[in-house]
Amino acid sequence: MNSPFLQDTSSDRIKIASLLQAGEVVALPTETVYGLAANALDPQAVRQIFEIKGRPLIDPLIVHLGHFKNIHKIAHCDSHLVEPLVKSFWPGPLTIILKKKPIVPDLVTAGRETVAIRMPAHPLTLKVLQDNELFIAAPSANPFGYVSPTRAEHVLSSLGSKMRHIAEGGPCQEGVESTIVDLSKQGAATLLRPGPISKESLEKVLGQEIEQITSSKEKASNQSQIAPGLLSQHYSPRSEVFLLQEGTVPSQEIAQGKKIALLMLSRNSLRTATIAKENCYWLSENGDLKEVARNLFHMLRFLDEKSYEKIIVQIPEMEGLGVAINDRLQRAAAKK
Ligand code: TXA
Ligand code: MG
Repeated sequence: MNSPFLQDTSSDRIKIASLLQAGEVVALPTETVYGLAANALDPQAVRQIFEIKGRPLIDPLIVHLGHFKNIHKIAHCDSHLVEPLVKSFWPGPLTIILKKKPIVPDLVTAGRETVAIRMPAHPLTLKVLQDNELFIAAPSANPFGYVSPTRAEHVLSSLGSKMRHIAEGGPCQEGVESTIVDLSKQGAATLLRPGPISKESLEKVLGQEIEQITSSKEKASNQSQIAPGLLSQHYSPRSEVFLLQEGTVPSQEIAQGKKIALLMLSRNSLRTATIAKENCYWLSENGDLKEVARNLFHMLRFLDEKSYEKIIVQIPEMEGLGVAINDRLQRAAAKK
């Protein structure tokens, strides 16, 4: 079989654009995670995304674009909050939800009246979008419910046989999925998914408080799929994940004979005599949360490959980027 990998060269970028225009699915790098991309305005192309991912059709997709001026083709931008946010954070890891225009297929939005939109910052993908004025629907390029991919080889290892085209863009710089903010209600902003851009940074730019959807509000809502990335069980490795706040590992977590890994926030943080040194790993040198986020999904996948029965992960404080890291880990740890 031919190699599925495409490179960041002008000839491969032209090839990527023509594949997308011809209705094919291509895995593309973004600064957050790799996406499973198809022409957002072509329902047949979009349908393949759901098939490859095993994603339920009720779970809407994010549309990626390369030029802000083109947003008017797919959405109503009547909220005065759009411009300041977009000026500050695009291209970048911010997704906004707006009222959609009829050109966006129902399949993309799962029949909703709103559409999720973002402009990714990865140079390869941004150039493909800009040079060809494309609208690309792309969820994270992982089987539904599994850990998102932050390297091209992650896409190959979990979707390999189904993927004919994967653009190689190196390791993702952010490592967790975009922050999602709903701007579809006049004057209001609601945080649907925490991500690399913190609630505080959004509030600073807007000069107003934003509401955050919590899982209890989500459960109370009869719209159970507000953002399925917010399903309580998601981003899960096969190994059981146990979260550790501080201090030492409780002894009941170290059952006799179990193959257990300990994943610390920094090389020098927590250690435990009861877990052998070769089973201790870390997410950063010194606890820098940007580095933790960048390595998080890679390390969860790496440890999953090693068939640990349990992965004990130290979680950060609920502050800034720590909120998004906590969120992904809580969902990885939630029982099936
Ligand atoms: O960083 C990211 O956002 C990555 C990269 C590839 O761009 N994409 C990503 O897509 O994380 P996905 O499909 O894994 O997560 C998108 C989330 C889903 O939880 C979906 O339910 C929510 O966005 N979403 C999409 N459209 C929505 C809408 N109209 N209203 C509410 N939530 C929506
Ligand atoms: Mg996802």
